[in-house]
Amino acid sequence: MKKLIALLLAGAACTFAFTAAGCSAPKTDKDIFAISYNLSDPNMSGLWKPGLEKASVDLGFNKIALQDAKNDDAEAVKMVEAAATEGYGGYLINVVDQTNGTSYLNKVKGTNKPVVFWNREVEVDVLKSYDKAYYVGIESAEGGRYQGQMAAEYVNEKGFEQLDRNKDGKLGVIVVRGEKGHLDAEARTLYAPMYLERFLEGGNKEANATVSGTEYKYSNTWNKVVVEAIVDGTDTAGSTWEPVTAASEVGRVLAADKDNKIDLVLSNNDGMALGILTNSEFKKAGIPIWGVDALSDALTEIKKENTQFMGTVRNDGVSQAKVCVQVVKNILEGKDYAAGMEVVDTKEAWEANGNAIWKDTANKALRVHHTKITKANA
Ligand code: BGC
Repeated sequence: MKKLIALLLAGAACTFAFTAAGCSAPKTDKDIFAISYNLSDPNMSGLWKPGLEKASVDLGFNKIALQDAKNDDAEAVKMVEAAATEGYGGYLINVVDQTNGTSYLNKVKGTNKPVVFWNREVEVDVLKSYDKAYYVGIESAEGGRYQGQMAAEYVNEKGFEQLDRNKDGKLGVIVVRGEKGHLDAEARTLYAPMYLERFLEGGNKEANATVSGTEYKYSNTWNKVVVEAIVDGTDTAGSTWEPVTAASEVGRVLAADKDNKIDLVLSNNDGMALGILTNSEFKKAGIPIWGVDALSDALTEIKKENTQFMGTVRNDGVSQAKVCVQVVKNILEGKDYAAGMEVVDTKEAWEANGNAIWKDTANKALRVHHTKITKANA
């Protein structure tokens, strides 16, 4: 009887502590911890969150409750540290600061459970420091290559003259980077204008560009494309990929462009592109824009008759989320991390197969393909 009363009291204390201080039921291998760098990013809330929730259930785990680090790196590390004491079966981590992967990993290594970093790639040495750590995402450059090609196809079809507002023989571009230092953002900023040049009629097929740190050099051998500005979506509070800031930055550049040098905008994600669409300077200029991600609001917009939003590149958070959960399951079952997936081992084989996942062993990564999306297939 005494034992029963003690148990009941402990239960009551835990219920009280649960509501008051966050004590929760012990976790098992059926529970996966997942944290996002910032759930106010529409890519995170609109693609990854539902993707993780569904994949966890589909693959036999309890439904994932994606945690929000609210763009606070120190807080995110603390949240991971707390989770590591709770007994989860695996950890899916979307870091805030991509250079700080070690701090996150050090908090969870001791659990001996699988750890998958996702969407914000950490240094490969971090992954190599723990045998159960992997990365799941995209090949950062592919989004840029596809976006540039799509924009070129559009210009070729419409006619260069139609797009070149001041008839100087050059297409002036604003690249909306989004987040300085983010690997996807930097690679898209490098490759999208380069592939626009390469795929334009009369463009230099060998066009190249270099980046050192976050400084870009677009070679002067380009025939048709000039990058007039690179802007970010970082607001004064430090939030990145931020649509309102990106829109005002593009508006500022366009307002100063008295000679109508700027002819199109390449946005590194859809969230910012949707923001830019509402900017009065952008509307006045009437120039086209492309995005990345394939958010559902972007697809709706692209389908409209008179939109300036001409296309996007699907960066499939839902499929990538499923891969993350599958990796955890594989490792818990003692299998190879890529078991049960259609993978290829080389970049060449991957580029030749639009459905395969690239098992990039050198980087302990699994990379999902992007898809080009225009009005025709939106
Ligand atoms: C996505 C962006 C997103 C970012 C967050 C990128 O891969 O394309 O939309 O804001 O990841 O890390």
